[in-house]
Amino acid sequence: MKIAISGKGGVGKTTLCALMARELSKQGRRVLAIDADPNGNLAEAVGYDEEKSGRIEPLIEKKALIEERTGAKPGSTGSYFVLNPKVDDLVERFSVEVNGLRLMVTGELKEALGGCYCPENALLRSFLRHLMVERDEWVILDMEAGFEHLTRGTAESVSILLVVVEPGLRAMKTAEKITSLARQLHIQKVGYIINKVHSEGQNRRIADRLGQDTIWAMMPFDFQALEADLSGTSPYEQCPDMREAARELIGKLQREQGQEV
Ligand SMILES: Nc1ncnc2c1ncn2[C@@H]1O[C@H](COP(=O)(O)OP(=O)(O)OP(=O)(O)O)[C@@H](O)[C@H]1O
Ligand SMILES: [Mg+2]
Repeated sequence: MKIAISGKGGVGKTTLCALMARELSKQGRRVLAIDADPNGNLAEAVGYDEEKSGRIEPLIEKKALIEERTGAKPGSTGSYFVLNPKVDDLVERFSVEVNGLRLMVTGELKEALGGCYCPENALLRSFLRHLMVERDEWVILDMEAGFEHLTRGTAESVSILLVVVEPGLRAMKTAEKITSLARQLHIQKVGYIINKVHSEGQNRRIADRLGQDTIWAMMPFDFQALEADLSGTSPYEQCPDMREAARELIGKLQREQGQEV
């Protein structure tokens, strides 16, 4: 199953991604967690100790690899380069195993370098297409609010886009914008995850606006999540209620899909 996670800044995308990836791994599933955020901290959120084990270099920064695969130097916009470079060995070569799951840091597309017309973007887009279209494990993609990563062909292979929403008008508006963008890209299914909920009343008000049947999970506000973030550890150990919500969400996704990936 291929899951993309989006939503307004700071709503809890990385937290959800980490909880799901850890829970799937605990259940013995093969899972690949992808950090596609330039300032991402998914590694720490799944339990990777960056201070001890070192920073994971994002794919987009691997200059020699980009040149080897595309035939052009990163940053060169005018030259010829391969648009669909070989990428099917990259997970095996560059993913890091953390708590039974595999983690990969891609970084973001270089928009400033002329949109899609540069070698590093060609490599990254090709890699994301490979992840979404060709692999058969659970892939969970932690994205920014935009969809620059997904071309139309890639987006169609996303099983579900989970849009994280926190109680607040701005988060809801962003979620609605993301949904309409997702429709244009032909993403099959969109589900909202309400996070940082303080009360049932808040939950109801959000459901009234977004539609009860669009809401796939609700995660309570949990001070321990902030503690985990502060200490650079995984919320999976520290937040049992959120862990339980992620477990239920995974069950629901599996039932909906009628599959045990
Ligand atoms: N349910 C929750 N209760 C309380 N705090 C939470 C909850 N979920 C996430 N947080 C906290 O909110 C902050 C933002 O969470 P997170 O980094 O997961 O969001 P994000 O959407 O990935 O942010 P960004 O847009 O910066 O990537 C973190 O400090 C995190 O610990
Ligand atoms: Mg994040």
